[in-house]
Amino acid sequence: MKALVLSGGSGTRLRPITHTSAKQLVPVANKPVLFYGLESIADAGITEVGIVVGHTAPEIEEAVGDGSAFGLRVSYIRQEEPLGLAHALLVSRDFLGDDDFVMYLGDNFIVGGITKLVKDFRESGPDAKILLTRVSDPRQFGVAVLDEDGGVIGLEEKPEDPKSDLALVGVYLFSPLVHEAARAIKPSWRNELEITDAIQELIESGARVESEVIDGYWKDTGNVDDMLEVNRIILEGVERRMDGEVDDTSQIIGRVVVERGARVSGSRIVGPALIGAGTEVIDSYIGPYTAVSENCRILDSELEFSIMLRDSTLTGVRRMEASLIGRHVHGASRPRVPNAHRLVLGDHSTFEISS
Ligand code: DAU
Repeated sequence: MKALVLSGGSGTRLRPITHTSAKQLVPVANKPVLFYGLESIADAGITEVGIVVGHTAPEIEEAVGDGSAFGLRVSYIRQEEPLGLAHALLVSRDFLGDDDFVMYLGDNFIVGGITKLVKDFRESGPDAKILLTRVSDPRQFGVAVLDEDGGVIGLEEKPEDPKSDLALVGVYLFSPLVHEAARAIKPSWRNELEITDAIQELIESGARVESEVIDGYWKDTGNVDDMLEVNRIILEGVERRMDGEVDDTSQIIGRVVVERGARVSGSRIVGPALIGAGTEVIDSYIGPYTAVSENCRILDSELEFSIMLRDSTLTGVRRMEASLIGRHVHGASRPRVPNAHRLVLGDHSTFEISS
């Protein structure tokens, strides 16, 4: 069995965090979301992985390399234009050969991995298997309608008027039958060859398509609340580790990771929390469910239930909560007079002030 990981895409749904980088590299608990997918694939016992890349190929290739860090053998498959998920499948035909495979969307995160799914698929051998999850706004997803026995009757991509709240999760298990289905479909209203249509085609041709409803799913929709929530879930699982420097005037409470080269001084950190490599936390408070990436500096500030990406600073800022701070962001307190906020915000930014 092989894996096909889709990490191309046009990046048209840009959010502050994905303006400057591939959306599959958005960090969750200080690790690119794509890495969790690759780890899940390795855990499921698959080693042969093709990664479909588009214009962000250099970034993805630099981050993943030959895959050996994950115990994988990675080949890159170039998709010149993001013409849809089924198109990505067509360009990967040579790599996939006649093997069964798991198709994994690189911007999706599945809590608990895919080991059991892959095992069940191998054992029961349907022609395809899809994963579904209940979502509050199905219009942003492919949506499935099931019959009373849980059989898939129909699928629709991003319907305006969804017939169920069951969204397609970005992990699909396929037998080679899907290639014929992908060749048979036409581009959709958004000019993409939709994998949803290819699966519908499989159903109509009488193939056996199974589904399973799962919990614990996230994708990069640019929604900060979702991102904080998935960050929280991952941090729930961290083990305490002190590889950096923590001085005697600091207090570290609970499951906190201080990475190598990080320095904590005169501060209180309450876990679960991550302090990235090379980051300095000085005379500050870091509260639960906070992930601070590499090379940040937090001085005389308070930060809780937040994500702070690399190379950013906070000086004299109290108190920040439920926030997503991008890369190279600098926040500082100003003199009390005049009583005004001064902000430099990039496109698509949001801010809330407490006064
Ligand atoms: O995330 C789940 C959803 O993913 C499903 O519910 C939908 O049925 C499915 O069509 C897909 O919807 P999106 O429109 O959100 O997919 P997106 O364009 O975000 O692409 C998903 C991943 O595949 C992403 O990592 C980029 C990559 N991609 C996308 C396209 C269109 C490619 O590699 N090549 C492509 O041509």
